[in-house]
Amino acid sequence: MKLDQFPRHQLTFGPSPIHHLKRLSDHLGGAQVWAKREDVSSGLAYGGNKIRKMEYIVPDAIASGADTLVSIGGYQSNHTRQVAAVAAHLGMKCRLVQEKWVPWDDPVNDKVGNILLSRMMGADSRLDPAGFDIGIRDSWKDALREVEEAGGTPYAIPAGASEHPLGGLGFANWAFEVAEQEKQFGVFFDTIVVCTVTGSTHAGMIAGFAALEELTGVKRRVLGIDASATLEKTRDQVARIARHTAELIELGRDIRDDEIQVLEGWAGELYGLPVESTMNAMAMGAQLEAMITDPVYEGKSLAGLIDLVKDKDIPADSTVLYAHLGGQQAVNAYHSLWDPVK
Ligand SMILES: Cc1ncc(COP(=O)(O)O)c(C=O)c1O
Repeated sequence: MKLDQFPRHQLTFGPSPIHHLKRLSDHLGGAQVWAKREDVSSGLAYGGNKIRKMEYIVPDAIASGADTLVSIGGYQSNHTRQVAAVAAHLGMKCRLVQEKWVPWDDPVNDKVGNILLSRMMGADSRLDPAGFDIGIRDSWKDALREVEEAGGTPYAIPAGASEHPLGGLGFANWAFEVAEQEKQFGVFFDTIVVCTVTGSTHAGMIAGFAALEELTGVKRRVLGIDASATLEKTRDQVARIARHTAELIELGRDIRDDEIQVLEGWAGELYGLPVESTMNAMAMGAQLEAMITDPVYEGKSLAGLIDLVKDKDIPADSTVLYAHLGGQQAVNAYHSLWDPVK
């Protein structure tokens, strides 16, 4: 297993904390639920899952001689905020394409939260009217060309850092971090629940836990909860990145189909728009555990976890790890969901 041989530029404070969600577990009356908190993993602009992916991308960016990180996401993209944070931390420039991924017409949607923080950190963040797509976009290619034409040296980071060849490594490493924490806490997580959209978080975990399975013979379920509402695209992307990452780390076998589980049922009709189960899950996490989740990603994966535990699809004798990937910065753009005068 070759993960240790990839250069890693540490951006996290260390292992992200894990903790037992006792009140939520008691409330659901089934499996024991723990959380691992990427939302508090790094000091860079509130952290989140992309920081961990970028630990393996930054060495390549530095080696390339780039002076500008160029990336893309929605108006309230957590990913682009984290790219802006990494650029500021490294003393690089940052050019961001922010597309209108969500038909959410709150007048502050393109002003507060993630986009505000990116601008504070000096990113050149420009709005684009295009809708949601996790693939490679012309607007992003145009931004790369514009940086070059202006005399800069761009480094390309695709949406969610997922289509990047090294994008899966950060969460392959996460699996090994979990195994260490299990020893420390005397616990074993037979099931992991994670939100998936652009795919490399879930895919990296699949490759990492497959590598652990090869070492220990112990299997677990890594359940991705789709929040893209474009299920087939996300499922294909997860499978492709998981297999690519497995090859990179020299897993020594292919990823089996049963290791790729992207579940539907909690995304609603459209990416970025919460549904009733999202709102209920956000309220439950906040009111039972003071664990804040967002309406775009983590509220949807938490809704999935709640139903799977309640309905015993995750058996009552399981111990399940909820990967909290960050994203709370977007909640201000969704203030009207809790508007007391509504
Ligand atoms: C808070 C949060 N959760 C989950 C995800 C999904 O991760 P991925 O795009 O790697 O599938 C993202 C980013 O897209 C995110 O910002």
